[in-house]
Amino acid sequence: MLGRLEGKVAIVTGAGSGFGFGIAKKFAGEGAKVIIAELSQECGEKAATEISGLFVRTDVTKRESWQSLLDITLKTYGKLDIIINNAGATYHNKPTAEVTDDDFELCIKVNVKSVYLSSSVVVPYFVRTNRPGCFIQVSSTAALRPRPGLTWYNASKAAVSNASKTMAVEYGAKQIRFNCVCPVVGSTGMTHLFLGKPDTEENRAGFVSTVPLGRPSTPADVANACAYLASDEAAFITGVNLEVNGTSYCTVIRLTDPGNQVDGGRCV
Ligand SMILES: NC(=O)c1ccc[n+]([C@@H]2O[C@H](COP(=O)([O-])OP(=O)(O)OC[C@H]3O[C@@H](n4cnc5c(N)ncnc54)[C@H](O)[C@@H]3O)[C@@H](O)[C@H]2O)c1
Repeated sequence: MLGRLEGKVAIVTGAGSGFGFGIAKKFAGEGAKVIIAELSQECGEKAATEISGLFVRTDVTKRESWQSLLDITLKTYGKLDIIINNAGATYHNKPTAEVTDDDFELCIKVNVKSVYLSSSVVVPYFVRTNRPGCFIQVSSTAALRPRPGLTWYNASKAAVSNASKTMAVEYGAKQIRFNCVCPVVGSTGMTHLFLGKPDTEENRAGFVSTVPLGRPSTPADVANACAYLASDEAAFITGVNLEVNGTSYCTVIRLTDPGNQVDGGRCV
């Protein structure tokens, strides 16, 4: 039986770990050729070996990196169909007045500039070749229902969700689709930063108590949503923010509950 992404070529950024690796594995399992575009040499090589993909060392905040990623992809596979902008970064959850210029710039560069550069470099390729391109950005529930202590991470994800909707309208006539998935907290390399404390079941309990389905998100949850949006089954879906969050709601309305007080700007 053919996979749902058979014959497609997909770039997944930040695919050396966490959600990105889950997406890369799912896409390879569905028949896609997968390019692991990752900053970490070690994680990228390991991920590529595991799914028989191609590792291209990439810094998503650099234009030259995007250009060489596209060039290598076209040289290796002859075409490109799907971009998953998954690489992301945040600072440690803290009161907003204590955020540094470096914290702010990290979020804007890795989360927002990467999406800008991907569209700047790859959209002209789709237009030139008349291909129905597909962009999927890993945004966040934070874009839609922000929680305290992560103002500029939340705002960077809101920018990603808004830019994707705008580009969906602008490039609809060219058959280039832009969608976002918006996960709630999972258990990955970034989770301790979101929580502002170690990623343990106990420390995740405050977040999880606001998820009606009663658990954090997993890489498989995020990957399944991306696989649908990247497949031909979603050919008429563009400009959406698909929430992958067990219908999570914001903790702000629970701050008065026992065990969910605010301490120095973060939920405890
Ligand atoms: N973990 C969560 O709870 C959660 C919730 C919602 C959204 N997200 C989003 O999911 C995405 C994936 O994060 P994750 O949770 O899997 O974390 P992660 O730390 O496991 O993965 C992030 C990956 O991005 C890579 N990366 C960082 N900067 C890069 C750069 N400049 N160029 C290329 N690669 C770079 C890292 O090396 C790492 O492999 C992020 O965009 C994050 O904002 C995460």
